Amino acid sequence: MRNIVLTGFMGTGKSAVAQELARLTGMRLIDIDSEIERAEGMSIAGIFEDRGEPAFREIERETIRRMAQTHGAVISTGGGAVMREENIEALRANGQIVCLIAAPETIYRRTCTSGHRPLLNAPDPLEKIKELLEIRKPYYERADVVIHTDDNSPLEVAQEILRRLAWKH
Ligand code: S3P
Repeated sequence: MRNIVLTGFMGTGKSAVAQELARLTGMRLIDIDSEIERAEGMSIAGIFEDRGEPAFREIERETIRRMAQTHGAVISTGGGAVMREENIEALRANGQIVCLIAAPETIYRRTCTSGHRPLLNAPDPLEKIKELLEIRKPYYERADVVIHTDDNSPLEVAQEILRRLAWKH
């Protein structure tokens, strides 16, 4: 069975939707950031702080390469994973790529209370979100299915994804 791969910017709801998808389908759930944190024994913010973003991207690449070989899993990726062609190729080999999107203001509202996203640790986080979204937009748009999450619950988004993928038991 093919994997369902969730991509999209921080705060678009990937983790919550991935949980609903796993529950609805009975598929195994793999969260790439959680895998990284478990393997490294360190939070993502800690890795950024201690070793820098390039080191994090390298660990992310290797983790995706390994986990993308799985079958029948829901795989939730970090918001920057799509920026490397190699990551998307590996994930596409066994899976269908879904991208969750949301307005910058929604993303800001969902992320502003949590301090665990190093890239949004900026003087003006909303401006930073807009800037990164602009750069990443063409990469996110290459997904097989693109879904807005502004006005829907994680369950509704998960159900919409299964409809759009014509997922059958
Ligand atoms: C990142 C998103 C984060 C995490 C890291 C970098 C990004 O994951 O991988 O902080 O570059 O957008 P989430 O999208 O799950 O927050």
